[in-house]
Amino acid sequence: MRVLVAGGSGFVGRHIARALIGDGHEVVVLSRDPARVASVPELAGAGAVRGDVTDPASLRGVLDGCEAAVFAVQFPNYPVEQPRLGLTFDRYDRGGTENLLAEARRAGVSRFLYVSGAGADTRSERSWYRAKGLAEEAVRGSGLRWAIIRPSWAYGPGDKALNRIAAIARRSPVVPRLGLRPQRIQPVHVDDLAEAVRRIFDRDAWDRVYEVGGPEVLTMHEVVATLCRVLGLRRLIVPVPAALAKLATAPLDLLPRPPMNPAGVDFAIQDGLVDDSETRRVLGLEPVALEEGLRRYL
Ligand SMILES: NC(=O)c1ccc[n+]([C@@H]2O[C@H](COP(=O)([O-])OP(=O)(O)OC[C@H]3O[C@@H](n4cnc5c(N)ncnc54)[C@H](OP(=O)(O)O)[C@@H]3O)[C@@H](O)[C@H]2O)c1
Repeated sequence: MRVLVAGGSGFVGRHIARALIGDGHEVVVLSRDPARVASVPELAGAGAVRGDVTDPASLRGVLDGCEAAVFAVQFPNYPVEQPRLGLTFDRYDRGGTENLLAEARRAGVSRFLYVSGAGADTRSERSWYRAKGLAEEAVRGSGLRWAIIRPSWAYGPGDKALNRIAAIARRSPVVPRLGLRPQRIQPVHVDDLAEAVRRIFDRDAWDRVYEVGGPEVLTMHEVVATLCRVLGLRRLIVPVPAALAKLATAPLDLLPRPPMNPAGVDFAIQDGLVDDSETRRVLGLEPVALEEGLRRYL
């Protein structure tokens, strides 16, 4: 099947693209800079096309000849929203999905897979949950065959969060952890997430929402402790109150590309719990535990 993967150059998208290529699909990556696609090892064998999901005119024709589209886009420097620059979950996740869906309908694409996230909810006060909820609503109501993947916290080669913590742990005897409250997540190896997508295509298992998470519910403290153990490092993990982190990161909002800001702190300390019973039942997915997943690449 010819499949366009929007966001195929990103962390999640490149692993999805690789899984689909491995299964014999013809993958085309939509990117703002298609020349870069050739330099991504996971994308060997993929084609590339230029397009910007926030600009409907730029999407005209990108899906011609495709049977399916995957949407795994997020705005540059997410989760740090910068509304004055138009970098928001609403513009990229909701608006971008709607724009690509419109082009998919025009081009006669029959299947659309949207990478959402745990907790997506149209009524949420949080911009990321709300944008993903609205995007899901658009996907479900599109008239196309659809699938929605709601991952918990994904880790693996090239991720931004866990690799950042690993870099700190390698340099410093103290590893800060955001938030005093035990934050509960189900870290999922990105290969397992990609495998779920591969199986949706392989089993033609559309018109469902698949929540995807690892087999354990862990606190962020346990995640960092597991990471240090795998790295063979003895480190002190120190909780940093969210209020303090917000105070400290507020001035960073003035930078052109802030590494963090108060809303980003809220994003980083959220829970990420999923009900993956449907994913196990329909797709037979058995994700790896965090320690084993980390040992695969660290
Ligand atoms: N990472 C996780 O743990 C996780 C967990 C749950 C859900 N998700 C969701 O998975 C999706 C992908 O996340 P990620 O971590 O893989 O993000 P990422 O690594 O930052 O990748 C973002 C992708 O979006 C593309 N992009 C940015 N602006 C674009 C535009 N205007 N038009 C077209 N493409 C654009 C980028 O491609 P170019 O730069 O080549 O244009 C890049 O491939 C997001 O919706 C995210 O919310 C991620």
